[in-house]
Amino acid sequence: MSPGSPEDAAWRAILDRVPGRTGAKSGNVSPAGAGSQSGIESLWQIYLPLASCETLAIAQLGQTLDGYIATRTGHSRYVTGPEDIRHLHRLRALVDAVVVGAGTIAADDPLLTVRKVVGPSPVRVILDPSGRVDPRARVFRNAEARTLWLRSARRAPSVPAPPSVETVALEEREEDGFAPADILRLLAERGLPRVLIEGGGITVSRFLAAGVLDRLHVTVAPVVLGSGRASLTLPPVDRLDQALRPRCRYFPLGNDMLFDLDLRP
Ligand SMILES: NC(=O)c1ccc[n+]([C@@H]2O[C@H](COP(=O)([O-])OP(=O)(O)OC[C@H]3O[C@@H](n4cnc5c(N)ncnc54)[C@H](OP(=O)(O)O)[C@@H]3O)[C@@H](O)[C@H]2O)c1
Repeated sequence: MSPGSPEDAAWRAILDRVPGRTGAKSGNVSPAGAGSQSGIESLWQIYLPLASCETLAIAQLGQTLDGYIATRTGHSRYVTGPEDIRHLHRLRALVDAVVVGAGTIAADDPLLTVRKVVGPSPVRVILDPSGRVDPRARVFRNAEARTLWLRSARRAPSVPAPPSVETVALEEREEDGFAPADILRLLAERGLPRVLIEGGGITVSRFLAAGVLDRLHVTVAPVVLGSGRASLTLPPVDRLDQALRPRCRYFPLGNDMLFDLDLRP
């Protein structure tokens, strides 16, 4: 997306719709092809519904055709193509906070900043009840965005947080750890009401099972792994009429297909 192109202008106009934002001033741009009319229409269709709401809980996953987000060793770069990576950076630019599980930090050591499009980087939130994440992880050392390290209120930290990182103690109220609704409430109380749950599969599944997501973006790549780390896993059901069948829109992203699921009642 070249600076000054119609697509770039459309993206900046979408960013300007985000409540409390005055314009797209931060971030770097990766040059890409010039914008087409259909590309601009897709931008509006995908991102406008996300830009204008005061509160938002959206999750995303990029998966193979057979439902994996990484190999069994955790290697995941990359399941989906460059268009989906740019889509992920757009989602980050539209939210106040990006949430990932400890498994993703351990496997990927991601930065979680916005680099592929224009836009501000969100606050990074790491779900790490036992404090197993290496304090030398890049999210803790990189100063481009704030980082919150969510730890269990019941377990004393064995390792002190790096000085730039805010450690937040949260009650583990469920067998599976923090209640997703508690996480969203804690972030809203800190002025972060628009949240992206970026992964991995365990983390997104817990938010989905808790029924607190407004939207889920699943991008499916024409790739078959046959084994690996699962995308979504939910408590088992016996009958197909018990399956989730949310309202859905479809958008091609290069060779992949984005399923935009609307989970609101
Ligand atoms: N393709 C994609 O879109 C995508 C996106 C992100 C990551 N990934 C890949 O996914 C893999 C990691 O995914 P994963 O499913 O194995 O792990 P994950 O979701 O990244 O992390 C799971 C861990 O995070 C903590 N956690 C998550 N939700 C919690 C909650 N509600 N309360 C308390 N703790 C919570 C727990 O840590 P404890 O175990 O310490 O309790 C949990 O075991 C990596 O290979 C990564 O590369 C792929």
